[in-house]
Amino acid sequence: MSIPLRVLILEDRPVDAELLLRELRQAGFDPEWQQVETEEEYLVALHSSLDIILSDYSLPQFDGLSALRLLRTRGFDIPFILISGTIGEEVAVECIKQGAADYLLKDRLTRLGSAVTNALEQKRLRDERKQAEETLRASEKRFRTLIENGLDDISLLTADGTLIWESPSVIRNLAYAPNEFLGRNIFELMHPDDLEQNQNLYAELIQKPASRQSGTFRLRHSDGTWRWVEAIASNMLNEPSVQAIVINYRDITERKQAEEALRASKLIIEGIINAIPVRVFWKDKNLVYLGCNVVFAHDKGFTDPKEVIGKDDYQMAPRDQAELYRDDDRQVIESGRSKLFIEEPQTTPEGNIITLLTSKVPLRSSKGEIIGVIGTYMDITERKQAEEQTQRQLQRLAALRAIDQAIAGSMDVNFVFKVILDRVISQLAVDAAVILLYNPAAQALEYSTGRGFRTEALQHTRLPLGEGYAGRAAQARQMVHIPDLQGRKTDFLRSPTFSQEGFVSYFGVPLIAKGEIKGVLEVFHRAAFEAEAEWLNFLEMLAGQTAIATDNAALFKGLQLSNIELTMAYDATIEGWSRALDLRDKETEGHTQRVTEMSQRLARAMRIKEAELINMRRGALLHDIGKMGVPDSILLKPGELTDEEWVVMRQHPQFAFDMLSPIAYLHSALDIPYCHHEKWDGSGYPRGLKGEEIPLAARIFAVVDVWDALNSDRPYRPAWPEEKVREYVREQAGKHFDPQVVEAFFQMIGENNPAQGGGGT
Ligand code: C2E
Ligand code: SIN
Ligand code: SIN
Ligand code: FE
Ligand code: FE
Repeated sequence: MSIPLRVLILEDRPVDAELLLRELRQAGFDPEWQQVETEEEYLVALHSSLDIILSDYSLPQFDGLSALRLLRTRGFDIPFILISGTIGEEVAVECIKQGAADYLLKDRLTRLGSAVTNALEQKRLRDERKQAEETLRASEKRFRTLIENGLDDISLLTADGTLIWESPSVIRNLAYAPNEFLGRNIFELMHPDDLEQNQNLYAELIQKPASRQSGTFRLRHSDGTWRWVEAIASNMLNEPSVQAIVINYRDITERKQAEEALRASKLIIEGIINAIPVRVFWKDKNLVYLGCNVVFAHDKGFTDPKEVIGKDDYQMAPRDQAELYRDDDRQVIESGRSKLFIEEPQTTPEGNIITLLTSKVPLRSSKGEIIGVIGTYMDITERKQAEEQTQRQLQRLAALRAIDQAIAGSMDVNFVFKVILDRVISQLAVDAAVILLYNPAAQALEYSTGRGFRTEALQHTRLPLGEGYAGRAAQARQMVHIPDLQGRKTDFLRSPTFSQEGFVSYFGVPLIAKGEIKGVLEVFHRAAFEAEAEWLNFLEMLAGQTAIATDNAALFKGLQLSNIELTMAYDATIEGWSRALDLRDKETEGHTQRVTEMSQRLARAMRIKEAELINMRRGALLHDIGKMGVPDSILLKPGELTDEEWVVMRQHPQFAFDMLSPIAYLHSALDIPYCHHEKWDGSGYPRGLKGEEIPLAARIFAVVDVWDALNSDRPYRPAWPEEKVREYVREQAGKHFDPQVVEAFFQMIGENNPAQGGGGT
């Protein structure tokens, strides 16, 4: 099988070209050929697909060496063999120097086959080498690009630490000029504090081929600052392609600074939470403590916060409190919302219950998920107590004011005592209280008012001065305190049922006003009771108030008595007057008494207020007092009055008004004397009032007055028969009289029965 061969033959003689082709075929080639003889033809035929060029050394218009040169200058790598008739040694050397693959003599063409084969082989090797070089160049370029653009710094060092190569990033990071540091020792750049440790590591590294070491140290930046780097050094001294210590390192200055800042801020936060008086703790989602500050640990009876970690509230608080805390925690964790300023109880390791002001907020991971709860609290027991004390004092002040007001505003001593005992019970928080009053005549304390008792045990108290606790308190004018009545069962002889009350503690406080003993205030507790100074103080203040109230009541009672006496004197006077009047008007004797009683009854039947009755009574007694201004000649005239006499007679209500109105005591009693002759239809006197313009007392009285007048003998006429009087009164309803009063009047006396109080008895 022959080898295809594209051949260019530079030859002027076709016979010679034929000879060459024959030789090639004999050597096993299958030439595809072209023959050229001038430079122009040669240049046209040159093509990279040619396998070989066979060229005559000398041609009529061209020559082999020029052709060879042209081939080179055109950039072709095609094997070129020169063939000549005669050729000297020098020319042959020149040809080879110019790049010819071989050189042959025309009379020795049998060597042509092997020369071509040889040239082709060399060309193949050349191509192969070129290919390999190309590949190598490409991969080197790739790695170089990677290293030069990578972030990691790479340095190559000799065994003693001399820098023999550095990656561009080293230059970038430490800001030295390229190669500025080449040839110098790496340890010159290292921070003195890091030197010893890292030199030791380096020494170890060098001992062991193919080993690695890592370290962290500071390198000097060109601006004089120190940069932290983290380095991995590999011993590749024995690696033929490297033969160096390879250091990979990266700048960790920022990370270091961040770590340092974090460490610092952690220390600051820890410092803060341990320095503040507020308790701080945090728990995980299962409500197990993750941490706390020192004061919290102390509250729980530990010295070190670490002792709290891993525990839960059940291990550190009474069950009910632990459940309370955990309820709050769960609400915060489930809702993601804070609970701020909740008041909670806490039992201290000493067993005291204090009040906490607690706030809880969700504990979140850096991703924002809720992973637990953070809590803080303060002990606000003192503030709470101060608040409560203020509140208590305000209430006590209010109580004193209420008692003052009761004393000032009420004449009813029993009411005042009730107000006092109400406050004693509520403000002093006692179970029962009683006021005993001193009766000087009997020289004994007597029960007045009590509250909070289950039995009537003390209601019959009558203790002679000096007897019993109360009697002793009164006599000695000093508070008596019995802390445990139960232990003195035989003492309380006042009542056999007293023991049923179950009292334990007793206080008896004397009531003293203006230096005189007025009584004793006693208070009882059904449980043991420890009195504080504030409480005792208030008890004494209340006792003082009670004494004042007692004294006031006594004063008032005296005043009331003298008032009553005075009133009685007045009323006796009035009755005396009215009797004198009746006596003057002889034949109407008893009239005033009758109309007074009857008008009272009618008024009551018409539901006039009780307080108004006394005024009506006085008014009725005095109704015709004005007749004192009417002379006997008119008043006692047996016959009808003349017009002139009537003028005088009709003045008697005005006389009454003029006589009585200067007397304040009788102001409210004037209606009847002044208005008893007014008529419903307006035709009466002295003012001609009409309907309800006429005071009700006068309207009531008018009916009774006329009824009694007509039923009686008068100097001017005899009494009428009763039936006639009834008819007359009924007939005058709506004219002389208020119809409603007439109706009530007949209901009162009964339609057909003779009227009570009527008939001149
Ligand atoms: P009095 O006698 O106490 O009578 C009081 C009123 O009863 C009278 O007021 C009148 O409303 C009624 N009344 C008494 N008697 C009669 C009577 O016979 N007929 C009728 N229809 N009504 C009678 P009045 O009328 O304003 O008289 C006031 C007072 O004047 C009487 O008080 C009496 O003291 C005196 N008076 C009245 N009429 C006479 C009279 O004719 N002669 C004398 N001497 N005195 C007379
Ligand atoms: C809590 O509120 O969860 C704890 C408070 C405490 O332990 O006293
Ligand atoms: C008391 O002091 O109030 C009672 C003493 C007694 O009844 O013996
Ligand atoms: Fe009259
Ligand atoms: Fe009268």
